[in-house]
Order: sequence, then structure tokens, then C-alpha cells
Amino acid sequence: MKLKIKICLIYFVLTESAFAAQGSQVTCVGNSGQPCNVACPSPPGGCTWNTSTTLTSCQINECSYCPSFTSNTSDQFCSSCTPATPFINFQNTVCVASKYSCINRQNNPWPDTYCSTCYGKTMYDNIAASSCISSTGSCTSRGYTLWNDSDCTACNGKTLYSSSSESSCVASVTSCVKRGTTPLTDDDYNTCNGKTMYVNSDQTSCVATTASCLSRGSANWISDNCKLCNPNTPKLANGQCVANSGLIVISLLIFISLLI
Ligand SMILES: *[C@@H]1O[C@H](CO)[C@@H](O)[C@H](O)[C@H]1NC(C)=O
Ligand SMILES: *[C@@H]1O[C@H](CO)[C@@H](O)[C@H](O)[C@H]1NC(C)=O
Ligand SMILES: *[C@@H]1O[C@H](CO)[C@@H](O)[C@H](O)[C@H]1NC(C)=O
Repeated sequence: MKLKIKICLIYFVLTESAFAAQGSQVTCVGNSGQPCNVACPSPPGGCTWNTSTTLTSCQINECSYCPSFTSNTSDQFCSSCTPATPFINFQNTVCVASKYSCINRQNNPWPDTYCSTCYGKTMYDNIAASSCISSTGSCTSRGYTLWNDSDCTACNGKTLYSSSSESSCVASVTSCVKRGTTPLTDDDYNTCNGKTMYVNSDQTSCVATTASCLSRGSANWISDNCKLCNPNTPKLANGQCVANSGLIVISLLIFISLLI
């Protein structure tokens, strides 16, 4: 019996010393002369701030009075009662070991780890390190994770598209990968593919010609280019691309002119 009481007493002392504690001193922002319990954010129900008017040393009087808080939490409360996890997470549900305040980030960067810590789920810092976003993988250390259009836009904070190889983000006119019915242009093709190729005449695919199919400029047509650019007029004749049947007509004309 005596032993049981002793054990109970030891248990009580241990648990009390673990939970019962005055909070650490933290700074609250208020007007001079205001006491901590006015200047600091309302603590979770059960806990109170001390009434000191020294706002740089505000303390929760007794942290054990609000052990399982669900609301009225704040960075100040977390810093006072759980200094190892000094910041409140984004959902205001748990104190977390972030490097900087989750809710009052100011100009501090958002490394990937703190994004996940603050949101309680996998999030990544954007390229500017100014906010956390949802993405398939890290924006800044992508590794082997491919890019897609939504990740490019989320990470960059502006509309960008994944390149055709999905290895980078590019400023193309529309998606490189999910092109839909938007016709390709020479510029788009180069932006999406990072190399000079040209679109064929009906703007549906890209071809390895020596010059643009659409705006030929001073470049002469060569036989190979006719075939690649213009499936309907694949033959070169008199500097022009002509249909196969046209070629017969021209050959015939040449044949006749030879006869005359
Ligand atoms: C939160 O703080 C307000 C005072 O600002 C108080 O009235 C309310 O009871 C508190 N709620 C909880 C759940 O602690
Ligand atoms: C309240 O604040 C003062 C600092 O002015 C501090 O010395 C004191 O320990 C604090 N805590 C309590 C419970 O009064
Ligand atoms: C990008 O990838 C993620 C994860 O697989 C997916 O949820 C999202 O819909 C993709 N976005 C596009 C535009 O394909």
C-alpha cells in the first residue's frame, strides 16, 4: 500500500514537472504601458499571459492549463509554452519547428522543408522562395522529376509551359506537350525544343529543313525541303514545290518544248 502511494506520488511529481510549467519569456507587440495579457494574442482557453508591462518578457503563467489547444494559438504562445516548436502552423492547429514564423514570414525564404512543416503536408517553395506551392516535386532542386505545365506555372508564379522534353520550363505561346488544335509556329517550335527546326506548311509538325517552310524569304527551295514542308507539293520544279501530277505536266511541257 505504502509502495503504491509512493509510486503514485513519484508519478505525480514526474508528470507535474513535465507538464506544469511557466512559459518561456517572449516578446509581444503592444503600446507602452500595456500589460502582456492585453498586448499578446489571446492564448488557448485555460492559459493566461502574465500581467507584466515589460512586453519583452511576457510569459504564459501555466502551460499545463491548456495542454491540448485547438484554437487561439499564436507564435507567441508556441514560443512560450513549446520553445522547441516555436511557431504555429498554417492551420493554427499545432506548434511546429519551423525556422521562421509560418504566418508572419516577412522576407525570410521558404525552403522546401519549412513549407512542408508549416503546411503539415508536402509543399515546396516557389522559385522566388517567397511562398509555398503544391507541385509534383521541388521547384529548386528538381532532380529527375519531370516538369509539367502546372508545375512550371506554380513554381514560377507566372504562366510557363514545360518544354517538349519536360526537362525545363519555357515561355511558349501555349503548351508544348498538350498542343491541342493550336497551330505550331517556327518560334514556338524553337522555344519548346530548344533547337532550330521549322514547322511544316500546315503547321502540324516540325521538320528538319534548312529554312522556314512558312516564310521562305530569300532561301531557295531545295528538293528535300519541298518534301518535308509540303506533303501535297513534294517535288521541286523550276524553284517551286509542286504536286507529283504537276511534275508530270511540267515534264511533259519540257518534253514538248524539246520536240519543237
Ligand atoms: C479564444 O480567445 C477569445 C478571446 O479573444 C475567447 O473569448 C475564447 O473563449 C477563446 N477560445 C478558446 C477556445 O480558447
Ligand atoms: C511576468 O513578467 C515578469 C517580467 O516583468 C517576470 O519577471 C515574471 O516572472 C513573469 N511571470 C509571472 C508568472 O509573473
Ligand atoms: C502535373 O502533374 C501532377 C502530378 O502528377 C498532376 O496532378 C497535374 O495534373 C499535372 N498537370 C498537367 C497540366 O498535366
